[in-house]
Amino acid sequence: MHPKAGTILRLFRTETGFISGEFLSRELGVSRTAVWKQITSLRNMGYGIEAVPSRGYRLISSPDVINPHEVSAQLDSVTIGRHLEFLQLTASTNADAFRLAEEGAVEGTVVLADAQTGGKGRRGRIWASPAGVNLYCSVVLRPAIMPNEAPQLTFLSSVAVARAIEKTTDLTPEIKWPNDVLIAGKKVAGLLNEMSAETDGINFVILGIGVNLNMTAGEFPDDLRHPATSLLLESGRRVDRSRFASAMLNELDRLYRDFQLHGFGPVREEWQRRCNANGRQVIVSDSGTECTGGMFIGIDADGALLLRTDDEVLHRVISGDLRVI
Ligand code: BTN
Repeated sequence: MHPKAGTILRLFRTETGFISGEFLSRELGVSRTAVWKQITSLRNMGYGIEAVPSRGYRLISSPDVINPHEVSAQLDSVTIGRHLEFLQLTASTNADAFRLAEEGAVEGTVVLADAQTGGKGRRGRIWASPAGVNLYCSVVLRPAIMPNEAPQLTFLSSVAVARAIEKTTDLTPEIKWPNDVLIAGKKVAGLLNEMSAETDGINFVILGIGVNLNMTAGEFPDDLRHPATSLLLESGRRVDRSRFASAMLNELDRLYRDFQLHGFGPVREEWQRRCNANGRQVIVSDSGTECTGGMFIGIDADGALLLRTDDEVLHRVISGDLRVI
């Protein structure tokens, strides 16, 4: 997309109602004919733009595309998304972001893809990443924290996804420890952080975020370990992918700024409030063996699960599968 067309889209998003051709030509520093050319190219890309003589132009519909211009036009973030890379097809946005970070990419660099051929899930699993339906996104952060504190950042991602779901749908998301986002008990988003660090500090962390937005039932793999869903399947409505991506990145930016100013406390509090196990009895199993049942107390500063058993002993669980009774 031509950068001028990107600017027109941004203006359509910030102004309400019609925008005159004269205003556009002034803002873009080009002739009215050049404005018309960009409007035509946007229409060819599937944007519905109404043109009314003496009033100007108005955006009435957008295609279900996800591209950097669409996303940036809706960003109000300070750090996250100040550099955005978009790939139509890639192996894994996490791998791309990792490489860019090694080459010196600035903090807040975002890699977005329409489809992934080797989407990475946790524990070496594959993350199903068909084209044209979901969000696949990786963010480069360079936080001034110690490597052992890095797991705290995953909690920022899950809260950002939950907030974005609330902003763009009528659905009520929940978070399942350690960091799945659920709708009606089914997984709708997965997060995968990767890190490059020395013993005394972090070089960078990659926050990998996959959200099932408009995936239909037939597009899910058959061999899923846990029930999965998409926002479309739960709400019956298609989600505008660019709007969702920008809402999520805006929230992540706010959370990251809060994290830098006030530490893990505020995000931990919100995460616990949103957790499906909050104040409930749970069972945590490790590698398939049921081991501990008790009351979910919350998470500690390292993101480990805190569980109180009937004998009033407090247990700290670093990894495992959690089931709410
Ligand atoms: C999980 O298994 O729950 C984590 C899934 C993480 C998937 C996302 S999609 C964008 C980013 N790129 C990847 O290769 N993986 C993450």
